[in-house]
Amino acid sequence: MAGLSLALVLLLDFSLLSRAQSGPPLQVSASNRVYGPDGPWQAVTVQLGTPAQQLDLYPGGVFQSRILTNQLCQETSESPCGSGGLFDTENSKTIDDTSIRFGRGDSGTSTLWTYGAMLLSYSNSSIIRDDLQLSGQNVANFSMAIYPNINIVYPDGNYPLQLGELSLGPVVNQSFPSGANVPVINASLIPGYLAAQNAIPSSSFGLHVGIVAEEFKLNLSLWLGGYDASRIVGPVSSQATKGDAASDFVIDLLDIGIGVDHGGSPFSYSSREGLLSSENSSISSDGIPVTMNPSSPYLYLPNSTCAAIVKDLPVTYNAGKALYFWNIEDPQYTRIVTSPTYLSFIFRGPTGNLTINAPFQLFNLTLEAPLVSNPTPYFPCQPPQAQGGSYSLGRAFLQAAFIGVSWAGQGVSEWYLAQAPGPNTDSTPQSIPMTMTSPIGLSNNWADTWRGYWTPLPNSTVSAIPGSTSSPRSSPSTLPTQKSNSLPGGTIAGIAIGAVCAVLVAIGVAVLVLRRRRGGNPRAVQPHTGGNNDTKVEQYPLAQYWKTGEETVGQPRTEDPILELPADEYRGNNQTQLS
Ligand SMILES: *[C@@H]1O[C@H](CO)[C@@H](O)[C@H](O)[C@H]1NC(C)=O
Ligand SMILES: *[C@@H]1O[C@H](CO)[C@@H](O)[C@H](O)[C@H]1NC(C)=O
Ligand SMILES: *[C@@H]1O[C@H](CO)[C@@H](O)[C@H](O)[C@H]1NC(C)=O
Ligand SMILES: *[C@@H]1O[C@H](CO)[C@@H](O)[C@H](O)[C@H]1NC(C)=O
Ligand SMILES: *[C@@H]1O[C@H](CO)[C@@H](O)[C@H](O)[C@H]1NC(C)=O
Ligand SMILES: *[C@@H]1O[C@H](CO)[C@@H](O)[C@H](O)[C@H]1NC(C)=O
Repeated sequence: MAGLSLALVLLLDFSLLSRAQSGPPLQVSASNRVYGPDGPWQAVTVQLGTPAQQLDLYPGGVFQSRILTNQLCQETSESPCGSGGLFDTENSKTIDDTSIRFGRGDSGTSTLWTYGAMLLSYSNSSIIRDDLQLSGQNVANFSMAIYPNINIVYPDGNYPLQLGELSLGPVVNQSFPSGANVPVINASLIPGYLAAQNAIPSSSFGLHVGIVAEEFKLNLSLWLGGYDASRIVGPVSSQATKGDAASDFVIDLLDIGIGVDHGGSPFSYSSREGLLSSENSSISSDGIPVTMNPSSPYLYLPNSTCAAIVKDLPVTYNAGKALYFWNIEDPQYTRIVTSPTYLSFIFRGPTGNLTINAPFQLFNLTLEAPLVSNPTPYFPCQPPQAQGGSYSLGRAFLQAAFIGVSWAGQGVSEWYLAQAPGPNTDSTPQSIPMTMTSPIGLSNNWADTWRGYWTPLPNSTVSAIPGSTSSPRSSPSTLPTQKSNSLPGGTIAGIAIGAVCAVLVAIGVAVLVLRRRRGGNPRAVQPHTGGNNDTKVEQYPLAQYWKTGEETVGQPRTEDPILELPADEYRGNNQTQLS
């Protein structure tokens, strides 16, 4: 025992030494407000310019961030417009809006940062630099494109954007030519810059966009240089980034199914598979590549896939918005969106398949003004709206998923995908520095993270699915439909983490001791400790380490309540009629 304690002390000292050079992971403040017009969605809060102007932005995308300026709403009669705050470029002493000539005055119709999910129409954009503050850290020469005029194009018309986008990588400097025969000019990207300043442990981030429905909440979690382990449930899939700049989070989606965790099924079958390729022979069993797309709202899938998913849902297709509206009068609506019924998304990880379940609660979203005049519950599936757009999964899906990345600095990086928990989760962050190895979660019991938020349906005599491929119903204590063949990312992580794990356990134990003294006692984490009756334990050997203690490295989260104000109360618009 004495020997073990000594070893722990030595490991702890070693870890403190190796850490001393950089700050802890940095939590980016989640917004106090939630946003529509197709949410509710939460965002992050940052300060831009000098004196600081506060803006809420959706985290996501790479290279220059996208900032809406205060000219945005002058030429639209649509309201709300720019409800996340608009940047007044005239009132920042530190702005540099002259050095970068690249892309100056750009106009057009483009997919911009959305991977083709959304079609955006804009004019007179330019790329500028200014100081950015987030959670008390300054990013000098922050790279951003400003948009004085930008609209999102739906089949039935153009609507103003509400929020810009805070990009999260992939390198330290974005370099632009400043003009002919003039040297390059550098603008900073957030995690790379903060890591280069040793303000955070590494150029990396971990993100769960959170869940902010009326009935249940789990705040957005964005950490730079680390991640919140409580936002990961079960195995983590680790894979290489793709795309021209090796910065896209692309993974093969093999199938989509419907399942019921426990109780009766609202459908005439207990589970269903094969929805991805249903009625579409050009989608093979290899699936389709999809990109994680946190700055766009919906599921952007083949139209045939959307049609297959909604086949047994009480919805009506709305061609003007290219979305499905829930028929709320239909008794099936409530049964589906309150029971333990979920969509399962099956991905091909490098060492096995990863299943992420998204309960239908997450797809009871609401369209609001300016998209529709009365709040309208809708189901968020549509094909990419831009010609040649990629299939992608936006915030609607990412309510159920954790994503993260360790940026390599150059070339291909590793990015991470895992199941995120439901609202029955302690909101105290358990932050861990991101190293070059796969992150590790706290829990393996997904159904438990939804306990108390589901209304199971009475068991009926519904039997297996006539004429459809079927799988056994999942048990409430396991990660449903999780293939047991391997732990995605785990094998790689297992080797690389071996040494690190001992250190982390040591920290965990030390922190646990400190926590006990302070009387800290996270609610949702506790039931899993020492869970030897958890039949899935062998499957996730690495996650076991986290059952021995909790990490609390990092900065405290903001505990502000999320206010739901009508979006247009935030900032009065000087509106003039569009000609
Ligand atoms: C910002 O950019 C200017 C001009 O390129 C440079 O002189 C300055 O050092 C940069 N600031 C930081 C903190 O990198
Ligand atoms: C700009 O950034 C690149 C890449 O980080 C770096 O190699 C170069 O030295 C920087 N240029 C200036 C003028 O600082
Ligand atoms: C990034 O560019 C700045 C100048 O804007 C320079 O001082 C810094 O060294 C560059 N960082 C790297 C890692 O190249
Ligand atoms: C069928 O899938 C292909 C390949 O993804 C896609 O291009 C096509 O639009 C889909 N067809 C329908 C009707 O959605
Ligand atoms: C997509 O599917 C809906 C029915 O689910 C259909 O009404 C619509 O025309 C289809 N859109 C495209 C672009 O094929
Ligand atoms: C669906 O969402 C709306 C808006 O948040 C909410 O008022 C309603 O209660 C939800 N419906 C169900 C059945 O949970």
